[in-house]
Amino acid sequence: MTILVTGGAGYIGSHMAHALADAGRKVIVLDDLSTGARENIPSKAQFVQGDVNDEILVRSLLRAHKITSIIHFAAKIVVPDSVADPLGYYLANTVKTRSLVASAVAEGVKNFIFSSTAAVYGNPSTPTVLETSPTAPMSPYGTSKLMSEWMLRDTALAHDLRYIVLRYFNVAGADPHGRTGQSTPNATHLIKVAVQAALGLRPGMELFGNTYPTRDGTCMRDYIHVSDLVAAHAKALEYLEAGGQSHILNCGYGDGFTVSEVIETVKRVTKSSFPVTLSPPRAGDPASIVADAAQIRTILDWQPQWNNLETIIEHAWLWEKHLINRGQAA
Ligand code: UFG
Repeated sequence: MTILVTGGAGYIGSHMAHALADAGRKVIVLDDLSTGARENIPSKAQFVQGDVNDEILVRSLLRAHKITSIIHFAAKIVVPDSVADPLGYYLANTVKTRSLVASAVAEGVKNFIFSSTAAVYGNPSTPTVLETSPTAPMSPYGTSKLMSEWMLRDTALAHDLRYIVLRYFNVAGADPHGRTGQSTPNATHLIKVAVQAALGLRPGMELFGNTYPTRDGTCMRDYIHVSDLVAAHAKALEYLEAGGQSHILNCGYGDGFTVSEVIETVKRVTKSSFPVTLSPPRAGDPASIVADAAQIRTILDWQPQWNNLETIIEHAWLWEKHLINRGQAA
């Protein structure tokens, strides 16, 4: 059974495409290459350049390849960008997802795995969040993903479609085999930025805010290795293909690290030092967000293998060095 992976040239999507190809699955990658890199797609996957809201293209792919499962990664993903460009985020993440889901329903796709985000919880009042915790996004990014969750929920009630929504916490690291990693230029995510600073690709980095109500005043996040996240998708696919019911599941480890702790760990792992400038808090940043990750382990029997901040950072660092060799570090 062929799987459609949207955004399969992107950071997480390309890891998924590799994992599916490794498992001997047939994969079609649909990506508009707006941020993805062609080189990160496995050679065994079929690549189609296009937009997820091109219903003629998507429906013809679904029909021609008898696709019964879609894993939908294609999205815009930068929280502060979404504050500056809300309509761009609602178009990319909500309107286009609606179109993809409509194509899926029209062509009888049974299983849909959706990349959602911890940003749907906003700034929670509890140390960890459960899937049943209140949703209150603080950014258009979080809202754009939450609206897509609602569309999937309502569509699954009306049609023969089941879904797993995975609410990602902070995804980082790279393929342990060095085949793919976060390749988008002008990085904004903490670990990539810090690793680039460690490699001298930028003169230093900013730390956004140190008066948050956390153990050292800097924001707390739950960093998850991209390969463990992809393994969760593989489990979700297996589960839906076996007839499992729809669920929304947190995808994190349940361990929080502050921005200062991450920066110190990057310096230790890379054995380098770089200047860190204190800047004002960044728009849309919650103080602390850490997963209660019990559900996913129970429902999908997910067992993470890379739950170690140093390993995550080391893999991100190795990938950045690979990009330098590829002439693509930016
Ligand atoms: N940060 C810095 N300096 C930087 C970059 C980031 O201090 O140069 C700080 C941010 O202010 C924030 C923390 O590091 O406090 C993490 O920021 P990221 O940009 O790495 O990630 P976000 O937490 O903003 O967002 C990420 C994903 C979202 C997801 C969210 C869930 O991009 O998709 O995690 O927590 F929703």
